[in-house]
Amino acid sequence: MTVAVAGDEVVGWASIGPWSPRGAYRRTGEVSVYVDRSRRGGGIGRGLMADLVDRARAIPEIHVLLARIARPNPASVAIHEAAGFRSFGIQRRCGEKLGRILDVELFDLHLDEG
Ligand SMILES: CC(C)(COP(=O)(O)OP(=O)(O)OC[C@H]1O[C@@H](n2cnc3c(N)ncnc32)[C@H](O)[C@@H]1OP(=O)(O)O)[C@@H](O)C(=O)NCCC(=O)NCCS
Repeated sequence: MTVAVAGDEVVGWASIGPWSPRGAYRRTGEVSVYVDRSRRGGGIGRGLMADLVDRARAIPEIHVLLARIARPNPASVAIHEAAGFRSFGIQRRCGEKLGRILDVELFDLHLDEG
């Protein structure tokens, strides 16, 4: 996990968790990122994701990072693409927030491919 701090306040965080509990998939991590609503749009998310990818490169067991982004979320897409993630598919209608059915876009970053 990495955090962004302003003064004595945590204003954002990004983390890597297991993508699957199955041992066969332990080479793959799934990323999460969150920035305090009042601090968005100032580059914190981009910085957190770049830092997270740098940290992942130092973990020998992790080779692939995955991200699931419920659409639409252009800010999240922007920070993942800036860190090197690429879209590889859409899971249709598999999410729901506040009564809205959501598609989820899948992104990956292969750490071994430079
Ligand atoms: C996604 C999130 C982490 C981004 O954090 P942030 O600090 O606002 O991100 P940044 O300011 O570093 O970058 C935002 C980027 O999105 C772009 N962006 C923002 N709104 C946009 C829009 N409507 N259309 C296109 N691009 C947009 C900005 O231009 C910026 O890109 P740039 O760096 O190339 O200029 C933040 O919005 C958040 O916490 N959202 C709620 C939680 C969430 O959605 N997490 C991700 C789940 S997959």
